Amino acid sequence: MNGKFPHDFLWGGAVAANQVEGAYLTDGKGLSTSDLQPQGIFGAITPRHEGDSGIKDLAIDFYHRYPQDIALFAEMGFKCLRTSIAWARIFPQGDEETPNEAGLAFYDRLFDEMAKYGIQPLITLSHYEMPYGLTQKYGGWGSRATIGFFERYARTVFERYKHKVKHWLTFNEINMSLHAPFTGVGLPADSDKSAIYQAIHHQLVASARAVKACHELVPGGKIGNMLLGGILYPLSCKPEDLLETQRQNRDWLFFGDVQARGAYPAYMQRFFRENGIQVAITEEDRQALRETIDFISFSYYMSGCVTADPEQYETARGNILDMVPNPHLASSEWGWQIDPIGLRYLLNVLYDRYQKPLFIVENGLGAKDRVEADGSINDDYRINYLNDHLVQVAEAIDDGVEVMGYTSWGPIDLVSASKAEMSKRYGFIYVDRDDAGNGSLERRRKKSFYWYRDVIHSNGNSLKQKG
Ligand code: BG6
Repeated sequence: MNGKFPHDFLWGGAVAANQVEGAYLTDGKGLSTSDLQPQGIFGAITPRHEGDSGIKDLAIDFYHRYPQDIALFAEMGFKCLRTSIAWARIFPQGDEETPNEAGLAFYDRLFDEMAKYGIQPLITLSHYEMPYGLTQKYGGWGSRATIGFFERYARTVFERYKHKVKHWLTFNEINMSLHAPFTGVGLPADSDKSAIYQAIHHQLVASARAVKACHELVPGGKIGNMLLGGILYPLSCKPEDLLETQRQNRDWLFFGDVQARGAYPAYMQRFFRENGIQVAITEEDRQALRETIDFISFSYYMSGCVTADPEQYETARGNILDMVPNPHLASSEWGWQIDPIGLRYLLNVLYDRYQKPLFIVENGLGAKDRVEADGSINDDYRINYLNDHLVQVAEAIDDGVEVMGYTSWGPIDLVSASKAEMSKRYGFIYVDRDDAGNGSLERRRKKSFYWYRDVIHSNGNSLKQKG
């Protein structure tokens, strides 16, 4: 491992409002789409009745316990914390003229607490949620009107926090709308491809408008996109497999191409034509899309394979994307295949393609942890996973890739997005809460807490290259 992490590398962790905050109706917050998905991001839309409760309603109570949690992040030496703003705290229904002051004040307190320790916020404007009111009244991102509501929200938070937050992201895993349309764009799960791509188009325009607004309003601000980095390999070297892999990688790279290059890539014309997809794109939209992001951010948990042979196609239990399992890789307890070298490969692919700085804003291992009789949690499996991935980040830096930072997913245990469970833990900090919602919510340092603290303090020099 020759690659050295830059001296200003942004080490830290990443969470999302709906997976940690709880307080789902506190201080004037409106219902968000996430509140209607108690079973997780692929779950059915479930109407809320008074007295109902779901695991996310309280989550890990970050809304009230953030000072303690930020202090623990500071103890590990975090330079950066990624979280999101719950849009429905700021505009409870989504279409109000004026924002909810109590919601804005919460994030002021949160950012001030981070500033006490010199932790820089990296803020996602929309992480798997939007005000539910916008889906009811307007059909979510299916409506052009939602672009304007989002821009108003983005301008409001840029103006409010412009001196506190310098790094922003637009939509979390924007390519995920292809797999979970309600979560991504507020459309019913059975929407047809034209409707989904039209909604995606509106979201891409909104993202570009937010980029423009950030550049206008936030002095020295930088804004990126956020992709689910689901890199795919051909299952064999058959040319048909290779071509199919290229096609499927373009399904998600398309989003980055629009956001980083400022226009629809040529290959989409044939894709739309052959799939009978109609998308209304105005000249004004094309102008708006020209405002491109400053950096690329992405999540990386695993890679997958592709075959052109339907006989061989076997669905792996994967994160969002239906991937063919790689026979050379082991899997996590949730069937996510572990591939540290894939992270180096992905960093190189993205850097070759876009020539923009990259930010790894999610990576981590979801695992069941055991609390020993003496209270310790010896999560060597998590340490190994993270160590091996970070070694590959160093290799990519040595390859010449510009990497701004690394925020591991879930530095504190939180509610999982796909299954809305607590038992899938990612944290360096254990939270005493189970899938049924029982537990004291007490925080406890795991073995990985001390390991990550050393990694940050040594700026990566404590990482271990494996033979
Ligand atoms: C990413 C999401 O897809 O993966 C996070 O941006 C999510 O919100 C993370 O939590 C891990 O997925 P899961 O289902 O294990 O929580």
